Amino acid sequence: MNVAYSMLKRTFELHKREYEAAALRALNSGWYILGKEMETFEKQFARYLGVKHCVALNSGTGALILAFRALGIKEEDEVICPANAYIASVLGITENRGTPIFVDADDYMEIDADAIESKITDKTKAILPVHLYGHSSNMDKIRAIADRHNLYVIEDCAQCHGSTYNGKLTGTFGTIGCFSFYPTKPLGAFGDAGAIVTNNDELAEKVRLLRNYGSKIKYHNEIVGVNSRMDEIQAALLQVGLKYLDEGNKERQRIAEKYLAQITNPLVLPQKTDPKVNHVYHLFPVLVKERDRFQAYLKEYGIGSAVHYPIPSYMAECYKKWGYAWGDFPNACRYAKQEVSLPIYAGMPEEEIDYVIKIVNRFA
Ligand SMILES: Cc1ncc(COP(=O)(O)O)c(C=O)c1O
Repeated sequence: MNVAYSMLKRTFELHKREYEAAALRALNSGWYILGKEMETFEKQFARYLGVKHCVALNSGTGALILAFRALGIKEEDEVICPANAYIASVLGITENRGTPIFVDADDYMEIDADAIESKITDKTKAILPVHLYGHSSNMDKIRAIADRHNLYVIEDCAQCHGSTYNGKLTGTFGTIGCFSFYPTKPLGAFGDAGAIVTNNDELAEKVRLLRNYGSKIKYHNEIVGVNSRMDEIQAALLQVGLKYLDEGNKERQRIAEKYLAQITNPLVLPQKTDPKVNHVYHLFPVLVKERDRFQAYLKEYGIGSAVHYPIPSYMAECYKKWGYAWGDFPNACRYAKQEVSLPIYAGMPEEEIDYVIKIVNRFA
């Protein structure tokens, strides 16, 4: 049997008619940038999260860059972030010439909140938790530290649409929440798209200006901006996706529960879940010491897998000037060397789920 790591077409086909109708509605409107579809999606996503503002953007990376820019992060400013963050999270800081201060990951593969405080200096301006894999970072502790030291919290929510910590939705704890709607995400567009969310009127207004060349009124450029707008077609498609976000999350949670109950191979260790977290399983990461052999074995049996992420961002080639070594952050290093993501998506056939479990359990 062949089991693809991911099959976006199957997820699309679950609600094909509605997606087609939404795309056609946007096409037939004759208005393709900064229009009603985007405004509607912004209102709907803000309502879903229970926040005042959503500003629709061109990508999650755009959201991170503009979030830090709106807050005035600049050269010499330090931002605390996880050592196992995705590179785009760190790019949000360095694109503004800020310095990322890495903190190792905890047992849940999230930023170790207990290790944050010792990294705070008089240059620290913000903390950037990255809610990896659909799990949430420890937002009780992070919020308390940020309040104690008067720091901004920018949440990277690219992988956790709809996940909660202590019953509160991720993206609503921080000064700004940054979302990606890259096609594979829990809420995915059919191209690039992203957004920031915030309860702060001024910051929302600033990001609205920044995304559109720094202008509200055509040819009146109040500040130096960029082009980071979500297009009308993606906004129309995302309205359909949002309608089914909770349903898709529940479906992946059901698959994850089956994996957790039935994968019993001691060589394959699933990510631990903090009991305070409602994990939406954007991915299903497992840790395997002999990762290469495990992936080759899965491939031999027709099962696709992926690695998130083989090179931690502190070891990225583009950041080698900082001179970090692999072992500087032992957990992040271990996750980078052992993590494998198993197939999990809404629309995955039951026999494929059962087959993955059977083959994984037979790995010796
Ligand atoms: C944790 C995280 N942050 C940021 C991003 C960047 O989002 P985008 O690809 O929409 O720019 C991603 C996307 O893969 C991500 O996984």
